[in-house]
Amino acid sequence: MTAMKPSVLVTRAIFPDVIDRLAQYFEVDSNQDDVVLDAAALKGRLAGKAGVLANAADKIDAGVVAGLPALRAVCNMAVGYNNLDIPALTAAGIVATNTPDVLTETTADFGWALLMATARRVTESEHYLRAGKWERWSYDMLVGMDVYGSSLGILGMGRIGQALARRAAGFGMQVLYHNRSRLPADTERALNARYVSKAELLQQSDHLVLVLPYSPESHHAIGAAELALMKPTATLINLARGGIVDDGALAAALRDRRIFAAGLDVFEGEPRVHPDLLTVPNVVLTPHIASASEKTRRAMANLAADNLIAALDAGPQSGKPSSVINPEVMAHRR
Ligand code: DGY
Repeated sequence: MTAMKPSVLVTRAIFPDVIDRLAQYFEVDSNQDDVVLDAAALKGRLAGKAGVLANAADKIDAGVVAGLPALRAVCNMAVGYNNLDIPALTAAGIVATNTPDVLTETTADFGWALLMATARRVTESEHYLRAGKWERWSYDMLVGMDVYGSSLGILGMGRIGQALARRAAGFGMQVLYHNRSRLPADTERALNARYVSKAELLQQSDHLVLVLPYSPESHHAIGAAELALMKPTATLINLARGGIVDDGALAAALRDRRIFAAGLDVFEGEPRVHPDLLTVPNVVLTPHIASASEKTRRAMANLAADNLIAALDAGPQSGKPSSVINPEVMAHRR
């Protein structure tokens, strides 16, 4: 008699071959119709499941996991995991994993795209052209801010922040950063990056990129007071998470030209966007796509699946998921 396979949920549509791979080990309840599951629907679908492959939009908190004794693994297809209540998962003996490393360079590439588009007014220029407003050349038409030779401020100097700093070398930029902990001196030297206080970072950066994780401590890390410290010629790029920036305060600063422009890939309460951001021209808006290259999204899906297979003691890495957020659970597993 063959043993029954454990059941897992995949909360949203993903690559069909990744579902097929999971099906070698599990009964898979997949959501290839890509219906967004609210908390009640998610909890209902998790009943009896041993694990879940989730994404950054799935809120999995104490309420969702309460009364689900079979649930042993929550594997996020994202490096950020502010959607997971880690203390609640740990208390319930549930292993949580994320997908670091595989998206670092793709996300940094996109940060660069957003920085260039913002500083050089690329989307605004395209809207101008498409609207039929381009009638003649003029010396001050859609002039922007230089990137080459300017200063790049990085708030949050983890993997993606460091990948941005490496790119800055090719643009002759002076790199400043602020982080919870300072990098070792040899890493600073290799990146040609100078540690400064948060206030100095705000005051001195020509272009400021946010790549810090979201947490209660980083909520509205950039609000009206911080924006007031920035140069009127500066740009602000948010690649990290909505909620790190007070989007209402940012829209007001953009409208009043207290900073030059912003590029945002993430928003407070996304997929909703603060209505005032939609009315100011000097902001480039993209729908949380920084990691969205074909190769990287595949790598993220496969890493999340590998983590799920390993966390539920199946497959070649059985018992050893590669990116565990709460390793203390692994030591005392049910
Ligand atoms: C991540 O991996 O955290 C990206 O923001 C995609 O959600």
